[in-house]
Amino acid sequence: DTPFNVCVVGSGNWGTTIAKVVSENTAAHPHLFNPKVNMWVFDEKIDGESLVSIINTKHQNVKYLPDINLPHNLVANPDLLSTVAEADIIIFNIPHQFLPRIVQQMKGNVKPTARAISCLKGFEVGKKGVQLLSAYIEDELDIPCGALSGANLAPEVAKENWSETTVAYQIPKNYRGDGKDVDHRVLKALFHRPYFHVSVIEDIAGISIAGALKNVVALGCGFVEGLGWGNNASAAIQRVGLGEIIKFGQMFFPESRVETYYQESAGVADLITTCSGGRNVKVARFMATSGKSATDAEAELLNGQSAQGIITCKEVHEWLETCELLHEFPLFEAVYQIVYNNVRMEMIPDLIDELDEFR
Ligand code: NAD
Ligand code: 13P
Repeated sequence: DTPFNVCVVGSGNWGTTIAKVVSENTAAHPHLFNPKVNMWVFDEKIDGESLVSIINTKHQNVKYLPDINLPHNLVANPDLLSTVAEADIIIFNIPHQFLPRIVQQMKGNVKPTARAISCLKGFEVGKKGVQLLSAYIEDELDIPCGALSGANLAPEVAKENWSETTVAYQIPKNYRGDGKDVDHRVLKALFHRPYFHVSVIEDIAGISIAGALKNVVALGCGFVEGLGWGNNASAAIQRVGLGEIIKFGQMFFPESRVETYYQESAGVADLITTCSGGRNVKVARFMATSGKSATDAEAELLNGQSAQGIITCKEVHEWLETCELLHEFPLFEAVYQIVYNNVRMEMIPDLIDELDEFR
């Protein structure tokens, strides 16, 4: 059988970490996968040298994942189209604001038999309403797309500290069934490592909604922590946040399963880890202690990485405003108002109290 060619589109903090994980597995299963993994890099100069050439010679992503050795079968490529051209499995892993431009470039340039997995956390809000990123990829490229999401702070996974994740994939109607098509067994072989335990399920919507919205909740946690209000306040934000995440799922993606939020790594576990140590919570804490705007705090703290909650809270606000349902999601709306309209963070309890149906 011809082994699957695997590529990763993206090379940030999580992109490089997932590329490391899958390169270890393609090398470990040469009958199933071509060991060489191509990783598309949005190239930039680091002290005058191209990041692509640094990754390919030093085998480290010195900017986005410093001090982590990368497998030598992982090859950085600055050219998007040659990265994806021969791929059977395309793993998307970029900050989601860049996705539409990248997908438009890829149109007509991927194998029709390719399958995709999105590791992105966010939504696409546009003409089709609020869309999962996997559905956006599927529609635009006309290939099936699943998702990977979990309690996965990239630096911890990169250091091979044990964690769990959830992969969701639905076998497509045109499944080839000849042992040469992607199925749950192939995905488990691709992503599971001794330090990265994978559960494969079908609920793409559930894991994607949880993954996108917990970033907004984490901003709320960062605000109350930065104000010095402590753990109880942070737990209160997470309680309200989990309720709003589930409600959002049930309202707009009724195919998502409530069990996913409670039982999967991509559900409440990701909420907890992100609210403890993610970039979103750090940016929001810094906004509270420094008085800086979200974008200034992000630029000052993250060295080119992205806190996706800043964009996601705007997407959620725009969608809920269109539906005239802002009042149903008081925490999401409070975070948006703080980030974009200078509403005082101290107002959070009042804003939630006014409308919180879970009280
Ligand atoms: P990141 O935040 O490290 O972003 C930096 C990346 O963006 C770099 O590769 C950079 O080259 C790229 N970039 C900058 N400008 C660009 C442009 N104009 N066009 C294309 N690319 C550009 O990225 P990440 O941490 O890899 O996050 C990718 C996705 O994974 C996000 O949706 C994020 O929410 C999710 N995620 C992140 C983590 C984590 O711990 N970092 C964990 C789980 C999921
Ligand atoms: P941050 O983007 O807030 O770091 O969260 C990363 C993440 O998604 C952990 O699972």
